Amino acid sequence: MLNSSGASSDNSGSRGLADQDIVLETARMILRRLTEADADNLFSLDSDPGVMRYLTGGVPSTRAFIVEQSLPMMLGLYEQFDGFGFWAAIEKPSGDFMGWFHFRPDRDHPENADLGYRLKKPYWGCGLATEGSRALIDRGFRELGVTKVVAEAMSQNVRSRRVLEKCGLVLEKTFAYPGAPFPGWRPEDCLEVRYGLTRKRWEIARVSGDVGIVHTHPLIHKDSASD
Ligand SMILES: CC(C)(COP(=O)(O)OP(=O)(O)OC[C@H]1O[C@@H](n2cnc3c(N)ncnc32)[C@H](O)[C@@H]1OP(=O)(O)O)[C@@H](O)C(=O)NCCC(=O)NCCS
Repeated sequence: MLNSSGASSDNSGSRGLADQDIVLETARMILRRLTEADADNLFSLDSDPGVMRYLTGGVPSTRAFIVEQSLPMMLGLYEQFDGFGFWAAIEKPSGDFMGWFHFRPDRDHPENADLGYRLKKPYWGCGLATEGSRALIDRGFRELGVTKVVAEAMSQNVRSRRVLEKCGLVLEKTFAYPGAPFPGWRPEDCLEVRYGLTRKRWEIARVSGDVGIVHTHPLIHKDSASD
């Protein structure tokens, strides 16, 4: 946790992390920048067919794909976009890698922020995806000047859809996946859904309490840390 001066206290799971790498903190997790040292974490995450079910039809990522394509793409976003990107989700207080969230300019409509998440299975079902997503959405509207948050999921991915709905996003359209289907996909896997949350709706929901706001912090600057 951060104390009132913005400094990390001992039970936050942030020990060993450089302050400037932490993007925000919620009750149960720290979101920090990924580094090249996360290759094994990402490989382990993508090795579970259950995690990959609604992404590739259950086909795990190879280590070469992680090291040569996935991780460089993730790290490259930090250089392209200030404050946006992929963030490792670190459990407090253990410091264990739970997965990642992304909050990045949408590929087709970069004025919108695209939300996504991928967690290891032992961490499913306890509200963590919702907690991290709400914090990122809150930070995006408050600090990054975002005007709309969007997200896409496989129509069948009810867990993911539920997370989006709990975060206040509303279904905007259902559409056929425009690319080539992954080898493991079934016909029903080719149906996608798109959700969105405008700033206006977010503001109204904040007032009415529909979108639960998790306490977030701006980037922790080294000169404000007291350790
Ligand atoms: C999607 C994912 C991040 C959700 O994480 P999570 O931490 O379990 O999510 P939460 O606990 O915050 O919320 C899950 C919600 O789905 C609900 N849910 C779970 N199984 C469900 C089912 N079969 N039908 C309907 N709802 C279901 C839960 O009850 C919960 O809603 P509730 O709080 O109203 O009860 C996680 O399952 C994951 O990493 N999956 C693999 C990667 C992936 O598919 N990413 C999304 C790509 S679009």
